[in-house]
Amino acid sequence: MTKVIRNGTIVTADRTWKADVLMQHGKIVAIGSNLHGDHEFDATGCYVMPGGIDPHTHLEMPFMGTYSADDFESGTRAALSGGTTMVVDFCLPAPKQSLLEALQMWDNKTSKAACDYSFHMAVTWWGKQVFDEMATVVDRGITSFKHFMAYKGALMVDDDEMYASFQRCADLGALPLVHAENGDVVAALSQKLLAAGNNGPEGHAYSRPPEVEGEATNRAIMIADMAGVPLYVVHVSCEQAHEAIRRARQKGMRVFGEPLIQHLTLDESEYFNKDWDHAARRVMSPPFRNKLHQDSLWAGLQAGSLQVVATDHCSFTTQQKRNGVGDFTKIPNGTGGLEDRLPVLWTTGVNTGRLTMNEFVAVTSTNIAKILNMYPKKGAIVEGADADILVWDPKRKKTITSKKQQSVIDYNVFEGFEVTGLPRFVFSRGELSIEEAEVKAKVGHGEFVAREPNAAVNRALSTWKEISAPRKVERTGIPATGV
Ligand code: URP
Ligand code: ZN
Ligand code: ZN
Ligand code: ZN
Repeated sequence: MTKVIRNGTIVTADRTWKADVLMQHGKIVAIGSNLHGDHEFDATGCYVMPGGIDPHTHLEMPFMGTYSADDFESGTRAALSGGTTMVVDFCLPAPKQSLLEALQMWDNKTSKAACDYSFHMAVTWWGKQVFDEMATVVDRGITSFKHFMAYKGALMVDDDEMYASFQRCADLGALPLVHAENGDVVAALSQKLLAAGNNGPEGHAYSRPPEVEGEATNRAIMIADMAGVPLYVVHVSCEQAHEAIRRARQKGMRVFGEPLIQHLTLDESEYFNKDWDHAARRVMSPPFRNKLHQDSLWAGLQAGSLQVVATDHCSFTTQQKRNGVGDFTKIPNGTGGLEDRLPVLWTTGVNTGRLTMNEFVAVTSTNIAKILNMYPKKGAIVEGADADILVWDPKRKKTITSKKQQSVIDYNVFEGFEVTGLPRFVFSRGELSIEEAEVKAKVGHGEFVAREPNAAVNRALSTWKEISAPRKVERTGIPATGV
């Protein structure tokens, strides 16, 4: 059985042209004029783009004494509803837990996935077991490892652990990721704020100023350089972090930066809302910033110094957020966004002229497919690619409201936001998953996407050549030890 998308305009990361797209057995099999198939979908007035890829989600994740509320069912339905056809979720071993045991836990959750998915593996502790298991994880097709520089006493790794893990990534052809915030400083500032009675959600923002993110980003970049490995910085929220990434890239380093749709569009004033729930629902790390930082992130997307827009979808109900009444450090960190990323980015990026349509495709899909080494299976409209296709109607409008969302939580940080630009059809490996507002996605349709290591991208970048071949100086007069 064949399906064809007719009369649309194809928009990819590098060009825009009018053509029909024919799908069969989950793949794109032809692109051209006047194609016909068993089922035909009219894309008149629409753009036909590679489905979105969200490389940063936390579905049903044990975190801060609870579990994130959306699982692989509601999370992937939300993704598809908003035009995202693949998510990359974080497999998170508890400290001292085997990576393979954690992977088994994550595998068990994904039987409900409605769209394709992959994993990043988190390195939350260090030892011979982790060193060894990383190779098995790579063999399983998971070739990216996340490091938390924050969440002291829980997930945080120290510099020695991070350096060891980065070197291991270099050996394995894997890509290290960092959550870059200085966890020691955050912990100290948090204690200071709490001691002064500043225990509301605004304390969360005060405890994580841009400097803690800038410092950690610089540190991670330098450690990556010494380990001879590229680096991907998740949820870049501020100019200080962006500046570090820009500088590194200018020197020729492969450092990638991922702003979130939330940081691009929501600002720190949210934490000063009089309503405790309103503020706590927006507690995430790093926190929302002011307009100057937002401008920096937009500039980075335009100039190419930042490459990917993600969500860090990690949703908690209001009830869960209330765990932190009286102590902001206990408010579960995280916000949702899976369903809203594309419509909000189109509305605030493309409709305002800040991004071209091709740049939109690059930052929502193609760039991350390349960075994570799954292009052109994903992130492309070419013959042979997976038929993960978004038929985008630039004229469809809606007002975002939690009352109509797929996410199971009881609010939406974009509540009331009017978007222009929404999916008409979404195909997941050729299956019609969304037809306008109707969700046809099938629970369990999603498949794991294995990724190869990428030796070329991971070639050593450091100019500190001595590190791999230290030169011992032959000396003639060596003084005697002792006195
Ligand atoms: O606040 C956040 N970002 N929660 C999810 C976990 C993480 O740090 O990415
Ligand atoms: Zn026909
Ligand atoms: Zn993080
Ligand atoms: Zn995250």
